[in-house]
Amino acid sequence: MIVLNKPLTPDLTKLTANLSQVNESGWYTNFGPLHQQLTKRLEEYLGVKNLLLVSNGTLAIQVACKALNINSAITTPFSFVATTSSLLWQGIDTAFSDIDIHSYNLCPTALDEALSQDNNYDGVVATHVYGNPCDVQGIAVVANKYNKKVVYDAAHAFDVKIDEQSVLNFGDASTLSFHATKVFHTVEGGAIVFKHKADYDKAKRLINFGIQDDGTLGEPGINAKLNEYQCAVGLTLLDDIEGVIEHRSTLFTTYRTELEGIVELPVWHEQASLNGAYMPIYISDRNRQESVITALKNNDIQSRRYFTPSLDLAYSQQKSFGCENSQRLANGTICLPLHNSMSTSDVLKVVNIIKHTLKDEF
Ligand SMILES: Cc1ncc(COP(=O)(O)O)c(C=O)c1O
Repeated sequence: MIVLNKPLTPDLTKLTANLSQVNESGWYTNFGPLHQQLTKRLEEYLGVKNLLLVSNGTLAIQVACKALNINSAITTPFSFVATTSSLLWQGIDTAFSDIDIHSYNLCPTALDEALSQDNNYDGVVATHVYGNPCDVQGIAVVANKYNKKVVYDAAHAFDVKIDEQSVLNFGDASTLSFHATKVFHTVEGGAIVFKHKADYDKAKRLINFGIQDDGTLGEPGINAKLNEYQCAVGLTLLDDIEGVIEHRSTLFTTYRTELEGIVELPVWHEQASLNGAYMPIYISDRNRQESVITALKNNDIQSRRYFTPSLDLAYSQQKSFGCENSQRLANGTICLPLHNSMSTSDVLKVVNIIKHTLKDEF
C-alpha cells in the first residue's frame, strides 16, 4: 500500500530524553524551557524573527487576525477549509476573490479588481497553496495601494524560501500548521511569524487569556499555548528535518518531470525553493480523473481530490467577487502520495499507473 501521507515518526530514544526534561522540571506548559528552545531553533532554522508557537494552525490564523485588528478580510477560495472557517469562527466578515489559474494562489489582479469594487476590508488572507508561494510582490503592491494588512496562511510552506528569503517574512504575519500530516510537526501545533515585534507581543498575551506581563488583565484572550510534551516532539523531529525536506523535494521533482505533458501541473514560483509538501495534478475530464483514481486504488495507492469544493461554494452566503478559476481547479485537482517514507521507485510506480491509464483509456 502506498498511502497518501505518513506522519514523521520521532525517534523514541531522543523523544524520551526530551520528555524526561519536562518530567524533571515539572514545567509542562506556559512557555516552558522546551517551548523556548523550540522557538529559538525554529527562528534560526527558518530565518525568521517574532515566531510565536501556538496550539494549532487554525488558531494561528484566528490569533494573527485578532492581533492585527482584522475584522473583515478578502481571502482565497482555494485552500483547506480551515483558512476560511477560522475567519468565520472569528466573526470576520469574509469575502472571496479568485485565484490565478496557473499558480492556484490568490490572484493580485483579481484582488485589485475586487478592492476597486469594494474597499471595505481590513485585510487579505492568502494561502501559499501546496507550498507554492503566492505572488508576494504582486499582493504587496495591491495591499499597499488599498492600505490592507496581509496574512499568509503558510500551513503548507514550512521552510520554503523565495530567493533565499523565508516566505514567512512577507506580509504582516504568516501562520504555520504543525499538524501530524505536515512536513514538520508537533502532533498538533502551529506558529505565527509576525513582521512587527509589537504584534508578536500582543499575540503572546492573547494566547495566554489576555493576561499582561504585569499580571493584570488586558484585552480578552484565549488559550492557544503549545505544551512542553508537544515541543519535545518538535525538537526531536527538527534534528532531521533538513534531510526530510531534501528527500521530499527530490520525490516532488521526479513526479513533476515524469508527469510533464501527461497531466496538467500547477506552475511553480520560479524563485522558490521546494519542500515537497504535496503533489497536486489537474485532470479536467471527469472520466479521466475517475479512471486515474480507480487505477491507483486497484494498485493499493491512495490519492485524494484536494481541495474541493471551492470554498466560495461551500460558504455561499459570503460575498464572492467571482471565483471561476477556483471552481474549475477544485473540480479536477488530485493529490498524489508524497511523504518521507516513500522511495523514488514508489513515485515511478504511481507515475507508470497514471501514464498507462491515460494512454490505454483515452
Ligand atoms: C492551508 C491550511 N490552513 C490551515 C490548516 C489548519 O491547521 P491545523 O490542522 O494545525 O489547525 C491546515 C491544516 O491542514 C491547512 O492545510
